[in-house]
Amino acid sequence: MQNVIASSGETSLSINSEMATKADPRHRAWVEVKPLAVEQNARLIKSFLEADCSLMAVVKADGYGHGATTVARAALQGGASSLGIATLQEGIELRESGLEAPILVLGNLTNPEELSACLHWRLMPTINSHREVELCQYLAEASGRFFDVQLKFDTGMTRLGCDLQDVPRLLELIQSSSHLVLKGIYSHLALADGDVDGKASDFTAMQQERFDSILRQMPPQPDGFYRHLANSAGTFRDRSLHYDMVRVGLSLYGYRPTNNLSTDLALKPALAVKARVILLRDVPSGVGVSYGHRFYTKRPSRLAVVAIGYADGVNQALSGRISALINGKFMPQVGAITMDQLVLDATDNPELEVGSVVTMLGEDGKAVITPQQWSDLSGSIPWEVLCSFKHRLPRVLV
Ligand SMILES: Cc1ncc(COP(=O)(O)O)c(C=O)c1O
Repeated sequence: MQNVIASSGETSLSINSEMATKADPRHRAWVEVKPLAVEQNARLIKSFLEADCSLMAVVKADGYGHGATTVARAALQGGASSLGIATLQEGIELRESGLEAPILVLGNLTNPEELSACLHWRLMPTINSHREVELCQYLAEASGRFFDVQLKFDTGMTRLGCDLQDVPRLLELIQSSSHLVLKGIYSHLALADGDVDGKASDFTAMQQERFDSILRQMPPQPDGFYRHLANSAGTFRDRSLHYDMVRVGLSLYGYRPTNNLSTDLALKPALAVKARVILLRDVPSGVGVSYGHRFYTKRPSRLAVVAIGYADGVNQALSGRISALINGKFMPQVGAITMDQLVLDATDNPELEVGSVVTMLGEDGKAVITPQQWSDLSGSIPWEVLCSFKHRLPRVLV
């Protein structure tokens, strides 16, 4: 029941008579997530692949900030058949939520406890070295269970994966280990999101040739064995990079990894960041705003203080460079972004009130602010922008 608790002239305040005891996720600032968009993106990507090519949904880093279990479910619903994660904890969270799909740990688990937990939770570790083969075989044999694993080798990324020349020896070792079941072999592209007819193209072709050189040496493998190389950029760059499976992260969430793509799928962004105006200030011309007074008003101004800051994931480097949206209109952000708030110049937006919701990232009417725009302004990449929204921002499914 609504009770009016104060009424004076132009102000009337009311409160729900039931005493509030919890924070409403939409009180301050939040991330809106559309599982349906992820499902539709997965369906679109899957339909772009040949029928015998599988889609792995990469849901590491809490599903690129969207909420791992939410997006994993949506992606599986849309046609993904397996999940890619980075850490043991991420895998356990998915299993505890009841998800049964195959899960590949893309990171490198090195200690026996981690690998033992992997076996317990039926997570597939990635083998990068001789040491992990022996550990996995030892743990599996001791527990009397078979351990599904995949082998990763480096074709030019120079990060994870064993050296090219070690692949034959490791393959032989895994396949002669009584309790290991090799479910796949893969590598990772370093420049797939680069230009299509320059260095990136030549380098990707070289990585592919290295990948193929290993595949040519392998005997035919049973059903359920996956050879995979492509991330989002590789998937849309060239169909010959698809093999038995593609590992898609960024595009699952609705973004193009580069403009250099051979296709133009109608991917839908699945995330928006919203925040409320918590104070309106009318100030004269020449007033310094926020820490360091990096901005001075150039006219009598109406400033809107918004309840979101760098502790929520709005990078300080974006200070004075971004805008927010209200009713499809842009309002410039001014002065330094602080830990919990930022300030907008709302002089040209008289409709703004305390409690109004502004869109910091995402769509509002016909206007949109993308992670790519933020990353271009802050010298980052869209992947990092998506992963930067902290748990202080509740994820609200819409
Ligand atoms: C091994 C591996 N495969 C696939 C992906 C997915 O990449 P993207 O988000 O560009 O599709 C990643 C992400 O970093 C990765 O590390």
